[in-house]
Amino acid sequence: MGKRKKNYFVKHFEQIFVLTVLVSVSIINYYIPYKLAFLNFYYLPILIASYYLGRNQTLSGAILCILWVVIYAYLSPESFFFEQTRSNLFYNIMAWGSFLILAGIILGNAQDNNKQFLKNQIALSKKLAIHLAVSSGLNSEMDFDTLFPLIIHRLTEAMKAERTSLFIIDEENQEMWTKVAEQIGEIRLPLGEGVCGRVAETGETINVKDAWELPYFSKEFDLKYNFRTKSMLCMPITNRAGKRIGIIQVINKLEGEYFNREDQELLQGLVAQVAIALENSFLMDELEVSFESSIRTLSATVDAKHPLTAGHSLRVTEYALMIAREINLDKEEQEIIKYSALLHDIGKIGIHDSVLLKDGPFSPEERAEMNTHPAKTETILEKFHFPARLKTVPFIAACHHEKVNGQGYPEGLKDEQLPLGSKILAVADVFDALTSPREYPKYDGEKKLGFNPMPLAKVVSILKKERGHQFDPNIVDAFLRILPNALELHRGTHFPEEYINKYTETL
Ligand SMILES: [Fe+2]
Ligand SMILES: [Fe+2]
Repeated sequence: MGKRKKNYFVKHFEQIFVLTVLVSVSIINYYIPYKLAFLNFYYLPILIASYYLGRNQTLSGAILCILWVVIYAYLSPESFFFEQTRSNLFYNIMAWGSFLILAGIILGNAQDNNKQFLKNQIALSKKLAIHLAVSSGLNSEMDFDTLFPLIIHRLTEAMKAERTSLFIIDEENQEMWTKVAEQIGEIRLPLGEGVCGRVAETGETINVKDAWELPYFSKEFDLKYNFRTKSMLCMPITNRAGKRIGIIQVINKLEGEYFNREDQELLQGLVAQVAIALENSFLMDELEVSFESSIRTLSATVDAKHPLTAGHSLRVTEYALMIAREINLDKEEQEIIKYSALLHDIGKIGIHDSVLLKDGPFSPEERAEMNTHPAKTETILEKFHFPARLKTVPFIAACHHEKVNGQGYPEGLKDEQLPLGSKILAVADVFDALTSPREYPKYDGEKKLGFNPMPLAKVVSILKKERGHQFDPNIVDAFLRILPNALELHRGTHFPEEYINKYTETL
């Protein structure tokens, strides 16, 4: 059988089946001597047709059966006679035919309704499944950087589209930017430009077969990315207060030419979920910014106690984060290190100014007081309410003067007792202390080193000498690898050109 014939057979199997039964019944009817008694067998194809084909085709089948029987009765009326007259035969066929049609209509109708109901149920459960998939993403993923690409990906799948973009409306800067743009990089557009701009401005939903026909569609991106935007569904995202906060843009329907009414309704429902996620992310961003800025202010307050330590905690944070990235710590660990570094010297608030600002070597009592600052850091930070993910910050910050050989302070903890974060802080802290100018002279044991930053070559040799004694060897190695970047970060400002050059000449 040819492929086309096979396909035709598979596609029309139900009609062919019904027709076969109908023809079989008719042929048997043709050969049977007492045809009238056999007429009820015609209910068989009609019942089957009503089940498979619905009302209209069943009705056609019933009429075909009746015609067939009428033709038989006309051609050979005697084969219908069974102790009855011609008029009796006519009435009998009439009654039979009416019931046949009635049965076809009732059963066909019931089956049509069933099918429609089933179709609605399937569509509904599909919709529910999509909503569930999107909302399960919302509930399971707390990291918004992962959440939005996930939602957008599921949305593209649900809409059976080629790609979707999520734009954020930034009224302050009068622009829109893509929080998620599948297959392309970030786009920034002035508010009001292109299709999204129009949606942002008017709040209307734009649903078109071919975006290129829109006068305000900008072909620039299509031409740049060698892409052809055809069908497009673009919808505003509104927050609970009714303010437009973003735009969702779905491009190129994969099954069909355009996004139909059902697609639009589906997206409308999903956009409500995206709106909630967006609002939450804005709130989280704001919370995070305000938390971080208060910590930074606190950190700067300590540094500001002495004009020459200004910026110390900030630079320690920068160096510590560079090391953390160098040894591939994850985002959460980097965050812990950031806050520990910003706050590591907060305990200095509790040191008397006569000690803290002293110009000259410390007496044993003064040294002892100065050395209480890490413990004071811990006491202060333990009173601070950190979110659960930052609970280790007080301890990590408190251990920044501990040494891996156990000869540090305040506790004299050893290598395996020290958190990795503290080991990173220790290197970053010492590096900044040695490379920063001091108003009071530096002392290296007995030797007076002067007010100026220690030469870089000397700092590096101290770090190398203390590798495995004061410092964790891996952290020193990582620091030496990022040192050029650390110097570059403050070239010409904290590190004068000649200070760096003097060192690079020795390499
Ligand atoms: Fe310190
Ligand atoms: Fe410090």
